[in-house]
Formats: sequence, structure tokens, C-alpha cells
Amino acid sequence: MNLLFGYRIHPTARIGFSVICPKHLEMGPQSYIGNLTLCKGLELLRMEESSLIGNLNWISGFPANDDRFFSSEKGRRPELILGSNAAITTRHYIDCTNSVIVGEFTTVAGARSQLLTHSIDLYESRQASKPITIGKYCFVGTASILLGGSALPDYSVLGASSMLNKAFAETYFLYAGNPASPVKSLSQDMAYFRRAKGFVH
Ligand SMILES: CC(C)(COP(=O)(O)OP(=O)(O)OC[C@H]1O[C@@H](n2cnc3c(N)ncnc32)[C@H](O)[C@@H]1OP(=O)(O)O)[C@@H](O)C(=O)NCCC(=O)NCCS
Repeated sequence: MNLLFGYRIHPTARIGFSVICPKHLEMGPQSYIGNLTLCKGLELLRMEESSLIGNLNWISGFPANDDRFFSSEKGRRPELILGSNAAITTRHYIDCTNSVIVGEFTTVAGARSQLLTHSIDLYESRQASKPITIGKYCFVGTASILLGGSALPDYSVLGASSMLNKAFAETYFLYAGNPASPVKSLSQDMAYFRRAKGFVH
């Protein structure tokens, strides 16, 4: 493990022409960040083995320990954690004002999805944030919106252009629509759910 600016970067990890400046960066073996990706304002970016962030992603968060906003949220964690073999493809917007966890072997696929952990709380008229959790072996379809507090269970698919605003719990399910709802159960035998390598050729 190389220690650079306090960052823990495995010698086989790679970063292209990108601006990556979280407070703490941990990159496991064969993890990869492509070109023209920006990552700023995070307390932690952790990428486990063979995880990937592609080109042209915008990953930002309102920093911790800044009392101008979110002062009522003690313990808020501006972080992005990718499990092993997880992938965020290209041109996505990931707001990590609160924790975003992407489970192992999950793909945030296509382009232009938005993961938004913060919003204005209209009842209180103040900024508020909640975590987003995506389980393992999930597939998030292109151009989807995931709001703070939402959760996609392990082994599930979010259909293209869906809006996830709840924490669902049932695994092996297709969720889709605006707002997303359970559409149909999925076979546990689907090859995507059983792969041993993240990248799909
Ligand atoms: C979800 C998806 C994978 C299709 O899965 P599938 O198992 O083949 O499901 P089906 O096409 O049989 O659809 C099942 C039902 O869900 C509905 N559905 C599927 N995708 C949907 C979506 N994105 N939004 C709303 N409803 C959707 C279908 O209309 C169908 O409804 P019906 O039973 O009333 O006719 C596909 O629709 C999708 O969204 N793909 C994502 C593509 C993408 O993001 N590509 C990025 C590059 S890798």
C-alpha cells in the first residue's frame, strides 16, 4: 500500500486524468478511476478490490464539520464506498453529502443517474440529508434518480429512468417506475447474480 498525502492507494490501483481530493482515499488492488471525474468535499472515498469509477462523473458532498449547513445532523458521513467489483460507469452525478454505499458486484449502469443524499426539508426549511444504500449484485438502470433514505436490496434491478425514494427490502426483485415500486421477482439463477468478475463482456 502506498501512502501519499495520507491516502492509502494499492500499487495496482489506477487514476486517469481526474481531480480526486476527498479527505481520505482508500483504493484496493486493481481499483480504477477513469478520466475527467471530479471527487471533492468527501470525508472518505473507499474503493475495494477491482471496483471502478468511469469517466466524467461528478462526485461531491458538503464537507463534514462545517456548521453553516446540516448542523443538526451529528455524525453525518460524506462518503462513497464501493464494494469489490462494483462499478459506476459514466456521466453520473453522485451527491455524497451523506453516505452512499454501493455493494459488491453492483453496476450503476448507463449514464446520467443522480444519487441525491441531500435536499431542502420543506417542513423545516433547512438542508437535510440521509444515506443511500445499494446492495450487492444490483443493476441500476440508466438515468435513474435515487433520493436520500432510499435503499435497493441485494440482487435487485432498478429499471431505466426510475425514481427510488423508499428503502425496499425484498431481494431478487425488479423495481421500476416513478416512484419505483416492485414489478416482478427475478430468478436467483440469473448469470448476472452469480458472476465472479465484475466487468461484463
Ligand atoms: C429492467 C430491464 C432490464 C428489463 O428487465 P426484464 O426482466 O426483461 O423485464 P421486462 O422487459 O419483461 O419488463 C417487465 C415489466 O416491467 C416493466 N418495466 C421494465 N423496465 C421498466 C422501466 N425501466 N420502467 C418502468 N417499467 C419497466 C415492463 O414494462 C414490464 O411491465 P408489464 O409486465 O406490465 O408489461 C430493462 O427494462 C431496463 O430498464 N434496462 C436498463 C437498460 C440500461 O440501463 N442500460 C444501461 C447500459 S448497460
